[in-house]
Amino acid sequence: MYIKSILFASFLLFLGGNYLTAQDYEYIGAAKCKMCHNKPATGAQYKQWAESKHAHAMESLKGDEANDPKCLKCHSTAGAVNEDLIATLTVKEGVSCETCHGPGSGYKAKSVMESREKSLEKGLIIPTEALCLECHNDNSPHFKGFNYDEYLEKIAHPIPAAE
Ligand code: HEC
Ligand code: HEC
Ligand code: HEC
Ligand code: HEC
Repeated sequence: MYIKSILFASFLLFLGGNYLTAQDYEYIGAAKCKMCHNKPATGAQYKQWAESKHAHAMESLKGDEANDPKCLKCHSTAGAVNEDLIATLTVKEGVSCETCHGPGSGYKAKSVMESREKSLEKGLIIPTEALCLECHNDNSPHFKGFNYDEYLEKIAHPIPAAE
């Protein structure tokens, strides 16, 4: 386990160090986020995502494509991340919450989530355009171009402002 951690840490360093803070956190899958993020009053983020193309991205892969790492890296969170870090995330949930918000095992507790600062310390990511461009680019065989403002609008799932 220790050796494995060292190897993994070196691998992360090799990637450029950006992912170092994520190394302790595991991917828990959208069903876990749903428990707290599906109430209409607070924006029902789970429902919004479940109705988006991201949640259905695996349905676009036919036959062997569904096992092809070249397709999975953009069509599935579970197919793109280090297997050792997968707790309860499944391949079929496609581009899931944790692609954009970071692996959730550290920040999922209510006491952490209630504080943005603590959540960010425990691995939460608030994504920017750079993250979208990792998949929305011309390495995609069906690339349709990417306009951040328009695309963001299509996947918007805000917490409604308090009245
Ligand atoms: C135990 C309940 C709970 C779970 C489980 C949970 N969250 Fe949260 N989350 C919250 C609460 C409470 C807030 C704060 C909401 C607010 O500020 O009104 C929050 C806020 C957030 C925010 C906004 C942070 C900010 O400051 O803008 C994001 C993004 C988020 N959660 C993503 C997730 C994801 C992704 C998962 C699953 C991996 C998840 N949450 C699991 C309760 C939870
Ligand atoms: C891990 C790769 C990945 C990331 C990161 C990603 N996407 Fe996507 N996105 C996809 C895939 C794959 C599809 C196509 C799903 C399908 O139809 O099979 C898609 C589809 C979409 C669509 C639907 C386009 C249409 O044709 O209607 C929108 C909108 C979108 N993404 C917005 C975003 C935004 C905004 C971001 C960044 C905040 C983002 N995506 C980040 C992989 C990604
Ligand atoms: C670099 C990331 C990336 C890779 C690699 C990738 N895709 Fe996609 N794929 C996307 C995105 C993003 C979209 C959404 C289209 C858009 O808005 O540009 C998409 C959309 C699709 C669609 C829907 C097309 C449509 O007209 O709506 C199919 C089918 C598809 N991809 C199949 C595949 C297959 C098969 C592979 C592997 C050979 C693959 N993709 C590899 C990112 C990728
Ligand atoms: C394709 C990337 C992507 C996916 C997938 C995704 N989100 Fe987000 N999420 C974003 C972006 C972008 C924002 C807006 C960030 C900002 O306010 O600048 C956001 C914002 C949020 C917020 C805060 C809203 C607010 O008004 O402060 C919550 C809560 C949240 N997401 C939860 C989730 C949950 C739960 C899932 C899965 C069920 C999920 N997200 C899936 C990209 C994504």
